[in-house]
Amino acid sequence: MQRKIISVATSIIEEAVADSLEKNFPESIGIADLGCSSGPNTLMVISEIIDKVYAITNKLGSPLPELRISLNDLPGNDFNNIFISLPEFYKKLKMEKNIGQEGCFISGVPGSFYGRLFPRKSLHFVHSSSSLHWLSQVPPTLESSFLKPLNKGKIYISKNTMACVLDAYLSQFKRDFSLFLKSRSEEMADDGSMVLSFMGRVSADPSCEESCMQWELLAQALMSMALEGRIEEEKIDSFNAPYYAPSAMEVTSAIEEEGSFTITRLEAFEIDWDGGAPINNNVHENPNTIEKYYVPRGQLFSKTIRAVVESMLECHFGREIMDELFRRYGELVDDYFLKTRPRSIDLVVSLTKRGSL
Ligand SMILES: C[S@@+](CC[C@H](N)C(=O)[O-])C[C@H]1O[C@@H](n2cnc3c(N)ncnc32)[C@H](O)[C@@H]1O
Repeated sequence: MQRKIISVATSIIEEAVADSLEKNFPESIGIADLGCSSGPNTLMVISEIIDKVYAITNKLGSPLPELRISLNDLPGNDFNNIFISLPEFYKKLKMEKNIGQEGCFISGVPGSFYGRLFPRKSLHFVHSSSSLHWLSQVPPTLESSFLKPLNKGKIYISKNTMACVLDAYLSQFKRDFSLFLKSRSEEMADDGSMVLSFMGRVSADPSCEESCMQWELLAQALMSMALEGRIEEEKIDSFNAPYYAPSAMEVTSAIEEEGSFTITRLEAFEIDWDGGAPINNNVHENPNTIEKYYVPRGQLFSKTIRAVVESMLECHFGREIMDELFRRYGELVDDYFLKTRPRSIDLVVSLTKRGSL
């Protein structure tokens, strides 16, 4: 699903890199990927950006700028896994583009993107994909309401969510996003570009299915276990996801209010929950036999979500319920697939840093 999100944004990323180089062709270009994770997608985005810089310089007949590439994620990210794959990456770069290690410096930068990470004016192009919907924290009003829970039986916004809960989520998003923009504005060179893609919504209603349903079904799976006494209901009442899927309008007004960037493009893409994978992709081979087996789409989606949220849920609900929770979640998602074609909204916004006066 995340790869699909990266691929829908590819042309916007390429356009932003080209725009940035057109205005400012530095000898040494600073590029950062924020929330890079550690997996097959990490170096894929970087490859695409290098390809574009390489194509532009070739077209202009200019020498390739020195590439300073920073990969950022939270300190717990498995940076070693990325570093281990770098020799192979450099080898390919040398073979395909004759770019040696003396022309491309890749480093890991651990820390939260909700704050300063890089020296002043050191970046020319910033990218972030599938990360900014994660808030820096659960909105504090929800955390402090454990005696009288405001979001009973739910773990995110849903239909009938109280207005104070909606406000708490929106305020936290605005605070975080504004701090993100302010931090980047200090780190980016004038006219530098930034492409951000994250989960959001087209609808003005924060409780619409396109932004809430994956959490709603997870809350239903938890509640079914609470009904059987497998977990305490209070535990569900006191858990709230540090997540917010903003509307395009909320994103626009947050950018305008902060004031450091102008919006070049803002687009919304519908992404199927299973990434639009053809049904055949669900047929898996058992490596020990020649047997093939079919994995229901709901269970596959459940695995995707488990990979992202399990550590968070495990801390709160305990490790022992995880297998059962995600089995039930997969079943609920399967039923949901029978009723509809579930899709999330991926917002992609391309920004240019305003020049200083
Ligand atoms: C779903 S992964 C996206 C990975 C990759 N960008 C992609 O598109 O496939 C989200 C990543 O954002 C990171 N993340 C979340 N909050 C962050 C923060 N405040 N600062 C830096 N990284 C953060 C997570 O650790 C995680 O690796």
